[in-house]
Amino acid sequence: MNLDFSQIVPYIPFMLKGIWTTIQFVFVAIILGSILGTVLALFKIGKAKSLRWFADAYTSIFRGTPLILQLMIIYYSIPQLTGYDINPFLSAVLAFGLNSSAYISEIIRAGIQAVDKGQMEAAQALGIPYRTMMKDIILPQALKNILPALMNEFITLTKESAIVSTIGYLDLMRRAQVVGSDLFRNFEPLLFVGFIYWCMVMVLTVLGKMFERRLKLSD
Ligand code: ARG
Repeated sequence: MNLDFSQIVPYIPFMLKGIWTTIQFVFVAIILGSILGTVLALFKIGKAKSLRWFADAYTSIFRGTPLILQLMIIYYSIPQLTGYDINPFLSAVLAFGLNSSAYISEIIRAGIQAVDKGQMEAAQALGIPYRTMMKDIILPQALKNILPALMNEFITLTKESAIVSTIGYLDLMRRAQVVGSDLFRNFEPLLFVGFIYWCMVMVLTVLGKMFERRLKLSD
């Protein structure tokens, strides 16, 4: 058995910095994905046929192709098409945000449609405008139903974030590879960042459970 964790000790601060670089873009991507996903979900349940068509086509493209391909297309095609360089951070935020919005829009659409129809009918009978009804009555109730699915999506994004190592973004995964090639031993740094990913997902899980409990209080 050839295992020696003492060799990675000097590299630990370098690898820990990857937590921040990873969280940074995943966080921005989650925000972007949630906003865009909500808009797309509203398009999907709305009356305008063209918007419905657009949202469905969008979902079909971003859910129907690999995320790593979308990431590479954004990273390599923007400089080729526009002449402007795009940094790995921005490419990652765009690819993850756009991709996630396709999944989030489906989660939110299902959540909205699961809210009792009487809620919408009552709001309409009271003459509440569509916007207010959605914002203050339907979406808050939908949020409660979809929280577990949303948490699942955020966990997926956190783990999938590792693919940004392929465009040279110095995230956790890339840092493990850098240390691995420096030391000529890969198992220890990979195991180390694997543990960090797991901790990050555990934190998300606990936060999600806490949030769920808070929402239940209002029942
Ligand atoms: N590996 C999958 C893909 O390439 C993950 C997609 C991202 N999933 C998500 N829920 N946002 O398509």
